[in-house]
Amino acid sequence: MNASALEVSDLRFAYPDGTLALREVSFRVSPGEAVGIVGANGAGKSTLLLHLNGCLAPQRGSIHIAGEQLDSASLKSVRRRVGLVFQDPDDQLFMPSVEEDVAFGPLQAGLPMEEVERRVVGALQEVGLLHCRTRPPYRLSAGEKRAAALASVLALSPSVLVMDEPSTHLDPRARRRLIELLGALAQTRLIATHDLELVVEVCSRVLVLSEGRIVADGPTRSVLNDEPLMLAHGLERPHILQHHHPHRD
Ligand SMILES: Nc1ncnc2c1ncn2[C@@H]1O[C@H](COP(=O)(O)OP(=O)(O)OP(=O)(O)O)[C@@H](O)[C@H]1O
Ligand SMILES: [Mg+2]
Repeated sequence: MNASALEVSDLRFAYPDGTLALREVSFRVSPGEAVGIVGANGAGKSTLLLHLNGCLAPQRGSIHIAGEQLDSASLKSVRRRVGLVFQDPDDQLFMPSVEEDVAFGPLQAGLPMEEVERRVVGALQEVGLLHCRTRPPYRLSAGEKRAAALASVLALSPSVLVMDEPSTHLDPRARRRLIELLGALAQTRLIATHDLELVVEVCSRVLVLSEGRIVADGPTRSVLNDEPLMLAHGLERPHILQHHHPHRD
């Protein structure tokens, strides 16, 4: 047995209005791998991520998490193992306070109170938000909301961490903290983002989505350095990869 952490096979999905958002999407992710998912607006990144913990159900194709097929029977156990940080934190935060939002998952999982408290403090510390623990989520700034949403997923210690635009609205210090945190995690990570420099720093591999299809899947630096490929799919070669030639005069 050599189960992938995640396997997506021939996934296709159209929204009820007929918009075909994913076509024949297939890839595998090994345990502990960090994979970036990049692509223009509307490429299908969020639609793909929403399938990975069962928020959307495949219309064709299948998803396996550690060898287990995702279906209505496995949904509960899959949700415990795959943590999804939504693109919009308002979809994630619904309790009267930040600490209750972060405690929600661990409480649902039936963990003892001391363990729940340990996880709440740990996750809020990791994202630098411990000072906001009693605040209602709607009284947070945009970047703080994003950090709270991430903490609510980290507190579950999912074996697969799926994040949709985790660095949006973060100031440079918070973004740096996020990059270090994501880089240090041992979990399998899938990160959809327009922040290509974050992908270069955190992900060894990247998938490029375009109009619902995977058009590239390979080592981050070689894919993102491929200027014709990037331009053809509405992207740019990241700056971080453009200035590494030694200066000569
Ligand atoms: N609820 C919906 N109903 C109909 N079409 C939708 C819906 N949500 C998304 N779409 C369409 O599905 C396609 C994929 O959208 P998706 O949100 O997955 O893109 P994305 O890659 O995450 O884009 P972004 O970078 O803007 O977040 C787009 O054409 C979008 O307009
Ligand atoms: Mg999106």
